[in-house]
Amino acid sequence: MSTPPSQKRLTPSNITAMKGQRPIVSLTAYTTPIARLLDPHCDLLLVGDSLGMVIYGLDTTVGVTMEMMIAHGQAVMRGAKHACVIVDLPFGAYQESREQAFRNAARILKETGCDGVKLEGGEEMAETVAFLTSRGVPVFGHIGLMPQQVNASGYRSKGHSEAEADKIRRDARAIDEAGAFAMVIEGTVEPLARDITGTVKAPTIGIGASPACDGQILVSDDMLGLFNEFRPRFVKHYAELAPTISAAVEAYASEVKARTFPGPEHTFQIKR
Ligand code: KIV
Repeated sequence: MSTPPSQKRLTPSNITAMKGQRPIVSLTAYTTPIARLLDPHCDLLLVGDSLGMVIYGLDTTVGVTMEMMIAHGQAVMRGAKHACVIVDLPFGAYQESREQAFRNAARILKETGCDGVKLEGGEEMAETVAFLTSRGVPVFGHIGLMPQQVNASGYRSKGHSEAEADKIRRDARAIDEAGAFAMVIEGTVEPLARDITGTVKAPTIGIGASPACDGQILVSDDMLGLFNEFRPRFVKHYAELAPTISAAVEAYASEVKARTFPGPEHTFQIKR
């Protein structure tokens, strides 16, 4: 979808309306220059709390703070002209009560200017999703594998048993009925992702959830080959930037040591 001429960026409602039209393209973004590069090709940019791992070197997303999300949300907003920009609510910023969730979501919207927030959770978060959406906060849901729950349920893929699949189906239905404008389905077996996609109103955006979803999202540092510490099965590298960066830095280091950089073309002389 191209950005309608009267508006700056795609809105959450535009994203909802894309269900059944064509697959929705989304990636994570955390900085202004990368947002500028991704923006023309993406319908949605997510300032994901995955930034805790790929930018800050944390082991999980649990330690991510509101301040980190707001700083990176502001940075991405400076680079996005076309895509809908959504910022993750970090762990601990919304689970306590729907009022806490509203306070922190409102802070993110006000301080970044982004288009909505994402939160993880199904049935247990449906009341919060309804509270936010009825008060002007567009909510992007996230079900299936939920990285903020790593301490309770690890990172394994979901929906292998009928009981687990049923729970995820109920989660999808609950946040759909609560008004989520779209939902991430992460790390979930294909038949379940297909089933949910066919039954909910909101578009499903898959990550490790098969081509059956209404759209796809990847962590940009993963697909660019920049973050190689952990490579789940569902990540495809569209580039290998880590070795390119290493080779560039090695060349720079050897030229500095050999005094061949900076050369005359990089050096200021007095103008006469
Ligand atoms: O934090 C994140 O980047 C995410 C995506 C992987 C969906 O939640």
